[in-house]
Amino acid sequence: MSSGYRRLFELAGKTVVVTGGVGILGRGFCRGLAEFGANVVVADVRGDLAREFADELARQYATGALGVACDVADEASVAELVQRTVDRFGRIDGLHNNAASKSENLAAFFAPVEDYSLAEWRKVMAVNLDGLFLVAKAVGGQMKRQGGGGSIVQTASIYGIVASDKRIYEGSRYLGMQISNPPVYSASKAGVVGLTRYLAAYWGDAGIRVNALVPGGVESGQNETFQQRYAARVPLGRMAQADELVGALVYLISDASSYVTGQTLVVDGGLTAW
Ligand SMILES: NC(=O)c1ccc[n+]([C@@H]2O[C@H](COP(=O)([O-])OP(=O)(O)OC[C@H]3O[C@@H](n4cnc5c(N)ncnc54)[C@H](O)[C@@H]3O)[C@@H](O)[C@H]2O)c1
Repeated sequence: MSSGYRRLFELAGKTVVVTGGVGILGRGFCRGLAEFGANVVVADVRGDLAREFADELARQYATGALGVACDVADEASVAELVQRTVDRFGRIDGLHNNAASKSENLAAFFAPVEDYSLAEWRKVMAVNLDGLFLVAKAVGGQMKRQGGGGSIVQTASIYGIVASDKRIYEGSRYLGMQISNPPVYSASKAGVVGLTRYLAAYWGDAGIRVNALVPGGVESGQNETFQQRYAARVPLGRMAQADELVGALVYLISDASSYVTGQTLVVDGGLTAW
């Protein structure tokens, strides 16, 4: 092909499922996909918000949108998500496996390693890693039944590929408390990267691509002290804005990345470069 490159990013006629679709990043991801023409299935455990947001997308972008209540940690709920998507749109072309748990019990979620409870570890793993597996398994199976082809993007984190520098958390406040990067978060996100490479190799012969999107820290109400300490570690000198992840997702979901699979696309302002 020697022209028509703009069309590489076109998503009209494609159906993309986004889990965690009403989160801080999820909403921008859904908007970006809809703006490029995709039918978007907003899947989230917060079902009412997912339905409301899907209605908003359909109005704003004049594309197909469906909001589905789905708990990615529950296999029956995931099967229903796939069924409802196929009933409505006939097929699934893309999956953004993006949901992650912050846990309702923030004190347990941010507890120091020495006090970290196995129950909390398992609760987070059930969503961040088991949940991603369940959704990839169900959607990849659907893509194969359709005759193959498709793109799966899984959200990992820089803390799945490097350790966090605990000095940046001194004096930090977020969600009303001192924060840190919990061990289960790093372990689950490293698992996402491993699962991504495995599935890319496994489904390569079916033409199903699987890549990881790896965001750095996104500004979302952290206090000034944290933002400054974090920014000092970043070559671009600041946290990301949520919208700055959207281009990478559209690239990975669309045909613009048709020869890319098994990769991690790191969008972190350079934090992991030094
Ligand atoms: N925000 C950041 O700074 C940042 C940095 C690196 C990676 N990430 C990753 O990006 C992704 C999106 O993060 P975010 O900042 O939008 O987080 P968020 O907490 O705002 O959104 C996560 C969404 O997942 C949903 N969810 C939680 N448990 C679920 C379940 N069991 N089933 C279905 N949905 C469930 C939540 O309701 C929420 O809407 C996550 O995978 C996160 O780990 C975020």
